[in-house]
Amino acid sequence: MATKFLSSLPVDLDPQRLPRHVAVIMDGNGRWATQRGWPRVAGHRQGAKTLKALLRCCKDWGIESLTAYAFSTENWRRSPEEVNFLMLLFKRLLRQELAVMQREDVKITFIGDLSGLPKVLQQEIHYATQMTAHNRTIQFNVAVNYGSRAEIAQACRRVAEQVEQGKLSAASVSEDLIEQYLDTADTPAPDLLIRTSGELRLSNFLLWQLAYTELYFTDILWPDFDRAAFHQALLTYQSRDRRFGTVSTPLSNSAAQAVL
Ligand code: FPP
Repeated sequence: MATKFLSSLPVDLDPQRLPRHVAVIMDGNGRWATQRGWPRVAGHRQGAKTLKALLRCCKDWGIESLTAYAFSTENWRRSPEEVNFLMLLFKRLLRQELAVMQREDVKITFIGDLSGLPKVLQQEIHYATQMTAHNRTIQFNVAVNYGSRAEIAQACRRVAEQVEQGKLSAASVSEDLIEQYLDTADTPAPDLLIRTSGELRLSNFLLWQLAYTELYFTDILWPDFDRAAFHQALLTYQSRDRRFGTVSTPLSNSAAQAVL
């Protein structure tokens, strides 16, 4: 990562011990809006601004990947008005922010069952993915219509098909192999997961990938999760002793691969 991006890193953060990959469960948009007497969707609009600011902050501070849980497979159960608003918001943001992502060298990727999304959104996703595919400074991974159990089941189905066709032996099915069939195959596991709004759950998000991830929960509602709040999350992360089941203290999940 280019050092010029680290110039704004707060002095109490160690640049050598930053997470390489941060994942966020952006919870509390609805409550944030309700507290102000506004419709829930106003919270999502503000939440999108918060996400944009966090992406910029991650880039400024030299973090290589940010994964955001934007819409779960369970979120379809919300009112049609809220679901439609979110689909339109995703589409509009992708279109509006594409030039910024290009300029800032952001590679956008998606995980989840994209085939279940409205066709126009699928097209926008496809276009943004293609256009930013060669960007390198930061990977911004968005989980839409995502459910971790479904992702794992799908990976198992694909592996089983290969076994059925005689292309793989049952004995060769390992953790590494299953990982290659997950939506996140090309991304190292998150080092830090942040969930806002005081909920202490994983809500079917990256269940496989979070095996050794540090979990950070805060009462702050997502629209209020600003640079100072992220700074605090990183300070907490750096105060943790990441042992990965061993007695050593590697710096990131990828460093742990060498240990395990
Ligand atoms: C959870 O808060 C938030 C969501 C389900 C939507 C999050 C989406 C965004 C912030 C827009 C991001 C845009 C892109 C393109 C990635 P909630 O509604 O569950 O809040 P509550 O728990 O207070 O009801």
